[in-house]
Amino acid sequence: TKPQLMKIMISGAPASGKGTQCELITKKYGLVHIAAGDLLRAEVAAGSENGKRAKEYMEKGELVPNEIVVMMVKDRLLQPDSQENGWLLDGYPRSSSQAKALEDLGIHPDLFILLDVPEEILVDRVVGRRLDPVTGRIYHLKYSPPETEEIASRLTQRFDDTEEKVKLRLQTHNQNVEDVLSIYKDVTVKINGSAPKEDVFVQIDTALAGLHEQKKATLASV
Ligand code: AP5
Repeated sequence: TKPQLMKIMISGAPASGKGTQCELITKKYGLVHIAAGDLLRAEVAAGSENGKRAKEYMEKGELVPNEIVVMMVKDRLLQPDSQENGWLLDGYPRSSSQAKALEDLGIHPDLFILLDVPEEILVDRVVGRRLDPVTGRIYHLKYSPPETEEIASRLTQRFDDTEEKVKLRLQTHNQNVEDVLSIYKDVTVKINGSAPKEDVFVQIDTALAGLHEQKKATLASV
């Protein structure tokens, strides 16, 4: 990736708002959004062997084995669009071995965004979440309702979005988060993710705008 392009990672507990903020970030900054969970769900939907195996872990809220996830994300990161526009990596890495796989390729983020949301808010966000299969947009019945009846009638729910499963996903997250944070602590910015989504974006946008300016200045001085 060219040095002037932005390389961003976003992390946080299940339903902390990663996907929602990624929609806002890509709209403004044109980065390529690479979500490990979306890549896995596409594989599940395609019914491939990897997809079938991945689903067993996703249903239990556990991490899918590295031999499935690592190649999938690496391939996507190395595609021309990610290399030409910069990237926004969502939900990866989730362990020190996944981070190491990136370091081995010389891939290091400029910024690691950590969305901080108290656990009691997360369950409410998960059970109300709905997805639009046509546009891929994320909705919430209470916090981000669909704009039209037509959209409302076609919304779907994720197979792992139940109260029981989000608790398992949260357990997995809590077991792994410190390992990953320790690797990226020099570039981490912690964002309060419990505010309305527009207010969360203002905080992220401030950090990204600062980085953008810094990159422009470095480029001009070369
Ligand atoms: P993944 O798809 O990444 O799920 P997750 O981490 O649990 O995160 P979510 O997608 O549930 O939430 P989000 O933070 O994007 O929240 P959203 O913006 O939608 O992973 C799924 C599974 O795949 C894992 O369990 C694992 O098995 C596997 N996997 C994934 N990555 C892996 C990896 N690297 N290695 C191994 N396995 C991996 O928001 C949630 C809801 O809240 C929405 O309804 C939204 O409208 C609403 N909302 C968002 N922001 C706000 C706000 N500020 N105020 C009010 N409501 C809000």
